[in-house]
Amino acid sequence: MSQPRYAPDQPLAGAPFIACAQGRLQVEGVVVDELAARHGTPLFVYSRAAILSVLASYRRGLAGRNALICYAVKANSSLALLELLANAGCGFDIVSGGELQRVLAVGADPDKIVFSGVGKTPAEIALALQAGIHCFNVESVEELHAIARIARSQGRVAPVSLRVNPDVDAHTHPYIATGLQDNKFGIPHAQALAAYRQAAALEGLQVLGIDCHIGSQIVDVAPYVQAVDRILDLVAQIKVQGIDLQHVDLGGGLGIRYADETPPLPHELLAAIWQRLDARGMGRHQLILEPGRSLVGNAGICVTEVLYLKTGEHKNFCVVDAAMNDLPRPALYQAFHDIVPLHVPAADAAHRVYDVVGPICESGDWLGRDRRLAVRAGDRLAVLSAGAYSMSMASNYNTRPRAAEVLVDGDSARLIRRRERMEELWQMELLER
Ligand code: LLP
Repeated sequence: MSQPRYAPDQPLAGAPFIACAQGRLQVEGVVVDELAARHGTPLFVYSRAAILSVLASYRRGLAGRNALICYAVKANSSLALLELLANAGCGFDIVSGGELQRVLAVGADPDKIVFSGVGKTPAEIALALQAGIHCFNVESVEELHAIARIARSQGRVAPVSLRVNPDVDAHTHPYIATGLQDNKFGIPHAQALAAYRQAAALEGLQVLGIDCHIGSQIVDVAPYVQAVDRILDLVAQIKVQGIDLQHVDLGGGLGIRYADETPPLPHELLAAIWQRLDARGMGRHQLILEPGRSLVGNAGICVTEVLYLKTGEHKNFCVVDAAMNDLPRPALYQAFHDIVPLHVPAADAAHRVYDVVGPICESGDWLGRDRRLAVRAGDRLAVLSAGAYSMSMASNYNTRPRAAEVLVDGDSARLIRRRERMEELWQMELLER
């Protein structure tokens, strides 16, 4: 991973929408350095066309089928992106009352919202029932009872689907694998049938579907096919009990290219999924998907400025103004994000190998290790593949204001979130005096 980038045979993650033109990094038709000069750094920049092109690949794989795409809001919950996806006809997968209110704020159709998560509070359940969401993805029998009780108290019927843990290995980072027996998620496969019987008998519930989500950053079709087979086995058994399910929700999880991964395109994955559904005569069920990372991950970059180049005993450090509070994935998962300069370096520029680190007082605050770069203080760099699980996981650690965000559409760019002001960081705090 330490070779200089911009080699013609190495398209950047996010290409063709994020690419180098005349020696300068551009997002669609906009020169990134000009955005950084105008808005400051750290700065997130997203490509509208990149998001819509992935969505088009999902749509291609769903053409002529009964299907619903529910974007997983947690991947990036910025209102402008939610608005873009709502206007493009997407529904949403939410995991909190906060995410529900975000999507309602951009005019989302409640009937296209599914509510996932292991720990829905009574207040969140009540709110979602009032909003009239499409379905609760229920993760335990205890939660089934809680939802039924709250629905009855409101005089409503709650649409539910049970999240089943299919015990499939998604071959991904242990923190983002969710479909194994040891994970906290879902109802164990062996207990699912009994849970369906209970759900069907509970007043206040309408049993609508079945649901699973086996993990994130999955770069292979095989774990999906395994999960589909395990889920369809259950659908058949549930039908024997007299419960006819309307939908099968396969969650999200499709990976993206951060380095040299070669995940299937959405329509390729979907072809494999339909093949299984059709082979078992279940292709007429509505298919729900909850993609997050694959829709936005490679549509975004984080622009940062080099503060200092520091020579250590064993390593060189490139200290930049973005940090683990802006880009938590390397610190949390040792995740790789490509890092490229905004200008192609001169052919004779001296390259050195650096650890790219932020200003936060933790050794875990690194953005990239052993990167070969030709940089000077004041230069700007772009951290690629930063559209998902970056801004939505950003914090104010070290009292650092969260970054600004810009959305590019062709030749124009729009500020979609201004940088936090310092005094906003402590305005909720109370002093004695
Ligand atoms: N549906 C459910 C129920 C989920 O738990 C998730 C993600 C998704 C859908 C969307 O998955 P995606 O398509 O984005 O892979 N912070 C981690 C990823 C955590 C994923 C949590 N669940 C990371 O940065 O890698």
